[in-house]
Amino acid sequence: MSRSFLRDTDFSPAEAAEVFALASRYKKLRASGIIDILRGESWGLLFFKKSTRTRLSFEVGVHELGGHPVMMNASELQISRGETIEDTARIMGRFLHGIVIRTFGQEIVDEFARASGLPVVNALTDLLHPCQSYTDMFTMMERFGGSSPSAEALKGRKLAFFGDTACNMAYSLALAGAMFGVEVSLCGPEEFKPAAILNKLFEDARLAPTWTFTSDPEAASRGADVLYTDVWVSMGKEDEKAERIKIMSPYQVNERLFSLAKKGAVFMHCLPAHSGEEVSEGVLRGDRSIVFDQAENRLHVQKAIISKLVQENGGKSS
Ligand code: CP
Ligand code: NVA
Repeated sequence: MSRSFLRDTDFSPAEAAEVFALASRYKKLRASGIIDILRGESWGLLFFKKSTRTRLSFEVGVHELGGHPVMMNASELQISRGETIEDTARIMGRFLHGIVIRTFGQEIVDEFARASGLPVVNALTDLLHPCQSYTDMFTMMERFGGSSPSAEALKGRKLAFFGDTACNMAYSLALAGAMFGVEVSLCGPEEFKPAAILNKLFEDARLAPTWTFTSDPEAASRGADVLYTDVWVSMGKEDEKAERIKIMSPYQVNERLFSLAKKGAVFMHCLPAHSGEEVSEGVLRGDRSIVFDQAENRLHVQKAIISKLVQENGGKSS
């Protein structure tokens, strides 16, 4: 089985720091053209859920690494007519050199990695969104790291996450934050507080669970370097929309909450945003918002993640 990136902790902090250093190089060198790490390779991009940033950044990224991206919507494959994940994965293992997957259950990416034998990248599951959390750490590193940013710049930073603290972004930020010494405060209603699975993820990775939970948004904002939010209604939770909006409305990131944060604090959001729900229009579009840098950095960081996997799997990825 090849090495994959299915959970935030699948790279050690030292390896993740190498990913960030490579992402910085890719960002600087982007104009100088194609890198041939994936020359002759075809990487599948398999999506069971909708996407704008992830789809685009992986398609462009695989191309810029010299490979051929093969975009697949699960609804157009035989898997939507009952072909098993195991058989689909085994077939992909015969054609492709790696697979990027956005899907529902975490067990689906695990099964693809096992049955295909290929390196698999988790491009969001219901449980985790590790490509986004790595990008967020990288973006914070750039923002707080001065002229030669390194992962050291993350140590002791305070990130407050507001809203649905039982969602994939909250869990991935808790994990990635702990890897880099970022103090992550998850803040939202008790009804959507983190489930026991979050501590199980820490336990499995032998990582100390450094995250905290509060339902008090003012307490979470005070002294924070980053105010972060995500949609209140994640993909697949549409049936709970009315209830979620009602319960989460006290957790909107707005100017009042921002006034309690540290001077120089920034606003982050994985996007897509629902202005007027989880974030006010003023904060989303204001000069403290770095959401478009975050979005751009998906490209550089994911190219580095793929490159690191290829290197760890012994050069060419099969
Ligand atoms: N942030 C993120 O993953 O965006 P998409 O859903 O558009 O891919
Ligand atoms: N929590 C969101 C993230 C979107 C990038 C979702 O799963 O829909």
